[in-house]
Amino acid sequence: MPKYKVKYICQNCGYESLKWFGSCPQCGVWGSFVEKAPPLILDHTVAEGSISTLSEALAGEEESRILVGIEEFDRVLGGGLVKGSVCLLGGEPGIGKSTLLLQVAGSLSSRGNKILYVSAEESVRQVASRARRLGIFSDSDNIYMVSESDLDRVLEMARALPIDLIVIDSIQTVKVSSIETIPGSLPQVRECAQRVFSFAKDREIPAFMVGHVTKEGAIAGPKLLEHLVDVVLYFEGDKRTQYRALRAVKNRYGSTLEVGIFEMTSKGLEEVKDPSAIFLSGLDGVPGAAVGVVMEGERPLVVEVQALVAPTFFPYPKRVAQGFDFNRLQLLIAVLEKRVGIPLGKYDVYLNIVGGLKSSDPALDVPVCCAIFSSYRELSIKGDGVFIGEIGLLGEVRPVSFVSRRLSEARRLGFRVAYIPKVGEELKIGEMELKSFVFLKEMFESMEEGR
Ligand code: TYD
Ligand code: MG
Repeated sequence: MPKYKVKYICQNCGYESLKWFGSCPQCGVWGSFVEKAPPLILDHTVAEGSISTLSEALAGEEESRILVGIEEFDRVLGGGLVKGSVCLLGGEPGIGKSTLLLQVAGSLSSRGNKILYVSAEESVRQVASRARRLGIFSDSDNIYMVSESDLDRVLEMARALPIDLIVIDSIQTVKVSSIETIPGSLPQVRECAQRVFSFAKDREIPAFMVGHVTKEGAIAGPKLLEHLVDVVLYFEGDKRTQYRALRAVKNRYGSTLEVGIFEMTSKGLEEVKDPSAIFLSGLDGVPGAAVGVVMEGERPLVVEVQALVAPTFFPYPKRVAQGFDFNRLQLLIAVLEKRVGIPLGKYDVYLNIVGGLKSSDPALDVPVCCAIFSSYRELSIKGDGVFIGEIGLLGEVRPVSFVSRRLSEARRLGFRVAYIPKVGEELKIGEMELKSFVFLKEMFESMEEGR
C-alpha cells in the first residue's frame, strides 16, 4: 500500500499544502490549518454487511421528504426537505434569509409540522414582530422560538421537543462553551455545525443553518461547512431592488440548476411564478444595453446586460463585472480587442446584469459583447432585439443549448428580432426575424447597418 503523506488544509478557503502554515498563504486567515483526513480505504471487516448492490439499493426506500408548501422553495430543494438533511442558507446580511426561513416555518406549521426556530441574533420579540408582519399566526403553536446562543442548551431543548425541523439563525452567532474562541471563529463554526449535523442525523429531521456571506462572497468559515452539509443554498439579489433568487450550489438530493425567484414586499417574500420580465430595465434604446436569455434549470429568463465603456488615462484599465464571471469578461474583452479590433485597452469596462441576477450561462457571451460594443460605439440597440450565443476564441458565435426554447420565451415577451449563432437546420419561431451569424464581427456590422 502506498504510504499516505500528511496533507494540511485551510478550513477557511480549502487551500491544501504538504506544509503546515500559521496563516494561510491564500486567504491570510490565521490558525486555520488542520491535518487533512486521509482518503477512505475500504476495510473488509468493516465493509462486510454494509455493502450492497445498486439493485438492492434501488429496491429500498427513497428518502422521505417533507413538502414546505412554498413551490419555488420546494423546487430548488429538489422536491421538498429530505428528513435528516442539513442545509446551509447563505446570503449577505439583510438579503432576507431570516424572513425566508420564518416563512418556511410558517408554511410548514400550517401543514401540521412542529418547528424549533433558534434565533441567536434577534430577540424572540423581534422575531415575533416580524412573524406578525408576515401574517404567521394560524398555527403558531407549532413554532417554538428561542433566542439563545449556547448551542448545547439549544440542542438539549430540541431533544425534549417533538419537532420536525430545526432552524439555527445563524451558525456564526451560536457557540459551544468547550471551545474558547468567539462565535463566528473557525473552530466555533466548525464545532457548532458538526453538532447540528449529528443532531439532525440522529433525530432524522431536517436542519437549516443560516450562514452570513462576507463581501468576497464566501460563507464565513465556509469551505468546511460546504463539505459537511447536504445542501447549500444561496439567497442573492441586488438589495436595492425587490427581487431575490434562491439557488442551490450543492444538493445531494436534487439538481443544482433550479432557481427560485422571490419578491420582497411589505408582507415578506412572495413567489414570482412568471419571472421573465423582472430582469429588464424597461429603458428602450439606450446605448450599452443588450438583452439575452439565460436558462435557469428548465426555465428561460430574459435578462438585460448593461455595459459602460469609458476612456481611461491609466495604464491598467478597470474591469468590473456584476452578476457575470470576471475572468469570462476579461476573455471576451480580449476577443473584442483582437478579433473585432475594438481598442478596449484604453477603456474601462463596467458590466452589470439587471436585477442582481448572477448567471454563468454561456449564452450570455453574445449579449455581453453586444452591450460593450453598443456602449463603445454609442450605438443604441432597438428595444425589440434579443441576443443569444457563446463566443469562441476566434471571435466565432457558437451554438448553445435550448435555442428555440429561449427564442420562444423572448417572443412571448414581445421581442421581434433575434441575433443567433448559425446552426445547421433552419429555425422558425412565429414571426420572429432570426439573423444568424458565424462571426461576432458580422453581427456588429449587421447591427450598424440596421440602425
Ligand atoms: P432579513 O430576513 O432580516 O435579512 P437577513 O436575515 O438575510 O439578514 O430581512 C432583511 C430585510 O428585509 C430588511 O431590510 C427588511 C426587509 N423586509 C421587508 O421588506 N418586508 C418584510 O416583510 C420583512 C420581514 C423584511
Ligand atoms: Mg437574519
